[in-house]
Amino acid sequence: MEAANKLSTIAKTFKPSPIQELSHLAQSCNAINLAEGFPDFPAPLHLKNAAISAIHSDFNQYRHVQGVCDYLAKIVNEKHNLDVNPQTDVAICCGQTEAFAAAVFAIIDKDDEVILFDPCFETYEACITMAGGVPVYVALDPPHWTLNPETLKRSFTEKTKAIVLNSPHNPTGKVFTKVELEVIAGECCSRDCLAITDEVYEYVTFDNNKHTSLASLSGMKDRTIITSSLSKSFSVTGWRVGWAIAPPLIASAIKNIHVKITDSAPAPFQEAALTALTTPQEYFELLQKDYEYKRDFMVKLLEGIGFQIAFKPQGSFFLFAELPEDFPFTDVFYLVYLSCVPSNDGICKEDDREGRSGGCARAWIFSR
Ligand SMILES: Cc1ncc(COP(=O)(O)O)c(C=O)c1O
Repeated sequence: MEAANKLSTIAKTFKPSPIQELSHLAQSCNAINLAEGFPDFPAPLHLKNAAISAIHSDFNQYRHVQGVCDYLAKIVNEKHNLDVNPQTDVAICCGQTEAFAAAVFAIIDKDDEVILFDPCFETYEACITMAGGVPVYVALDPPHWTLNPETLKRSFTEKTKAIVLNSPHNPTGKVFTKVELEVIAGECCSRDCLAITDEVYEYVTFDNNKHTSLASLSGMKDRTIITSSLSKSFSVTGWRVGWAIAPPLIASAIKNIHVKITDSAPAPFQEAALTALTTPQEYFELLQKDYEYKRDFMVKLLEGIGFQIAFKPQGSFFLFAELPEDFPFTDVFYLVYLSCVPSNDGICKEDDREGRSGGCARAWIFSR
């Protein structure tokens, strides 16, 4: 049997993820993993204890922990002045990744267009394509990754169904401004278009930058699907607890899809999420300070060795660094090279949109 002939059309279009490839390369060389975007600090002790206690208490079966929805609704209602109903508007999923995929499957039909900002996180395009949708890229203008309202307006067509907004942003470190959010909200409302937000870096913002949820802008609550997770805020990317928050009909569709794909997020970690979601504010203040210190360290380090950093990250833990002018190799070569070098210092990872976003290496702030 020729297995290649048995693959679905969509499976044939996918290549191995460059991030996964670099990750495997790093593992095979016993090098620091420069590829995947996960925090480098241990999960907070109170969370680990909650997970251990849940395992000891035999939370081992399929599970939906309503308390997680209750806490999430309380948090977003207080923080973003929304009126999320925990009974009807929240779907717990396996990380933001599954929440996003389920959200896309819930709203996207064949040939529907979905606007993405370029550069963007790699999973969005794949999910949209799997659902039969068509990604439409709107370039953010370097070096400050500003959104040009005219470019955005021009990208809407009769087929535009949704727009994806990730802020704080991977891979640029941008936090979208209030004015930019208003432009996006205005277009969504006038075009009767949905928005899917990815807010996994909501607690990682620097200087005077603050995270604002698009859903909190006028007219957006009923057309926004918020997706996020515990992953980045608590250094638990492997626990796979995330969520989608949406108007009831869409949230219900997301729940139905989630049940068909994975049934439920890991039971002990949903229990631990109850603890995570009641973490005092001081934790997030420390998290912010720590990342800000690391950002400043990384910027100084890279500039000191000849990289140009035109845009100091405002949030998330990524930055764009231009390779030194006299550098003899391509950015991809450089990243592969870095992936193979055991080191205790800073890391860089590949921006796989070479050609679209220019010859930059994407660096991840993690090292002291
Ligand atoms: C922008 C962005 N969204 C989502 C994720 C994945 O989140 P999760 O672990 O909740 O699936 C990542 C991970 O790197 C990310 O950078």
